[in-house]
Amino acid sequence: MTATLAYTPDHVLAPVRRRLFGSFVEHLGRCVHTGIHEPDHPTADEDGFRGDVLALTRELGVELVRYPGGNFVSGYRWEDGIGPHADRPVRRDPAWRSIETNQVGIDEFARWARKADVEIMYAINLGTRGVAEALDVHEYLNHPGGTHLSDLRRANGTDQPHDVRLWCLGNELDGPWQTGHKTAHEYGRLAAETARALRQAEPDLELVACGSSHSRMPTFGQWESTVLELCYDLVDHISLHAYYDPLDDDVDSFLASAVDMDRFIDRVVATADAVGARLKSDKRITLSFDEWNVWYLSRFQADPPTEWRTAPPLIEDTYDVTDAVVVGNLLISLLRHADRVAAACQAQLVNAIAPIRTEPGGPAWRQTTFHPFALTSRLARGHVLHTSVHAPTTPTTRYGDVPVVDAVATHDHDGTTTVFAVNRHRTQPVELHLPPHPAHVTEAWLLHDQDPTAVNTAHHPDRVQPRPLTTDTTDGRPRAVLPPVSWCAITLRDTP
Ligand code: AHR
Repeated sequence: MTATLAYTPDHVLAPVRRRLFGSFVEHLGRCVHTGIHEPDHPTADEDGFRGDVLALTRELGVELVRYPGGNFVSGYRWEDGIGPHADRPVRRDPAWRSIETNQVGIDEFARWARKADVEIMYAINLGTRGVAEALDVHEYLNHPGGTHLSDLRRANGTDQPHDVRLWCLGNELDGPWQTGHKTAHEYGRLAAETARALRQAEPDLELVACGSSHSRMPTFGQWESTVLELCYDLVDHISLHAYYDPLDDDVDSFLASAVDMDRFIDRVVATADAVGARLKSDKRITLSFDEWNVWYLSRFQADPPTEWRTAPPLIEDTYDVTDAVVVGNLLISLLRHADRVAAACQAQLVNAIAPIRTEPGGPAWRQTTFHPFALTSRLARGHVLHTSVHAPTTPTTRYGDVPVVDAVATHDHDGTTTVFAVNRHRTQPVELHLPPHPAHVTEAWLLHDQDPTAVNTAHHPDRVQPRPLTTDTTDGRPRAVLPPVSWCAITLRDTP
């Protein structure tokens, strides 16, 4: 099989937005406690943050981290997590049936974010709380000083405002599982009034309204339409969430998950633009894909937590090579939509459905899915190019016939082009032909294994890792053979 790519450096779609390389830290399972924070760990720093996890976070190339949830945020009182540690209340977290010690709160997280060199995306509780509490947390985080809550922050050790720019107006409030679940109208009104109040406090915040929890929600489409009609002028972004699970062992469909992500994005863009047209607005709403990943959700649903425990090992999925190829392909889809997707967060960062895993008191290691994220974040530079793929198709149960190869290219002003591509076929290699380039390959990486179910573990942390990909040039066209179930990145530099 052969696949051919077409792109030119002057046919630009959009800048590579660095916020596409976002992640997510929720008070969920062991993401915070024994994930980013473990005061007794041998690598812990003076603030109790695991040094090994901080180093891996930097290596992953994360730019933005959503915090503190997720389902967790819809029952959360942010003020439980500030001030002297001995005074912080221990609470129930109904969302994950866990006990929250509150030993890490926003001041600690902001300190961690500075060390990791990431921007914070802060989610406020619009499940069990409302406008007043949103204003309070904003005053605590962003007001310079001279008021009760900003002075409290200073007294708690953070003199300068945290200056959070990007705010989520709640989380997944369309979902009946959400604490404080709402109808679209109830949520749209609350989001509008919260946004209005936050903008009175600080006009240039970036605000994200909740879209649908996934594209199969019965209210999908109608929810976005109603919510945006109520807050179109008050928000900047609408959120999307999507998790992919190889249900019924249908690996062919699973490998084509990016087809679903493409359609989901296109439909939300169409819905948002239709609302804009109805409102006769020139404003364009952008998208915040603030939760996406592979998640073996059906396993979690079959065995949910029954006991109230502190930092239980929840949803610690172990990812294989196939999962990593899907993750690489989802990143291709996000880049392909960089004209409308302004931010994206892989959920989550550590332990809970995460590219980084830890053992309490023990090692931290890279899951298979770490690698396509890290390479895409490092190599996607400059602008995303309009990229077309001519490839044979393969049948899938869920998405019909899909191209075997998916790809996108980015181009930087220094003359560097990087192609990201996947071969979604389970048994057949594909010969990939790039356009004729007066260029030479500077690096090329392949993520693949003879065994697509191979995984990394604490004992074999580097069993799966990117290996150099062999390339050559035929008739002026760079070329590479992509084995079945593989992801690759090929960087070329223009020859003067
Ligand atoms: O990321 C795990 C959970 O998935 C989040 O808490 C929730 O928002 C979503 O349903």
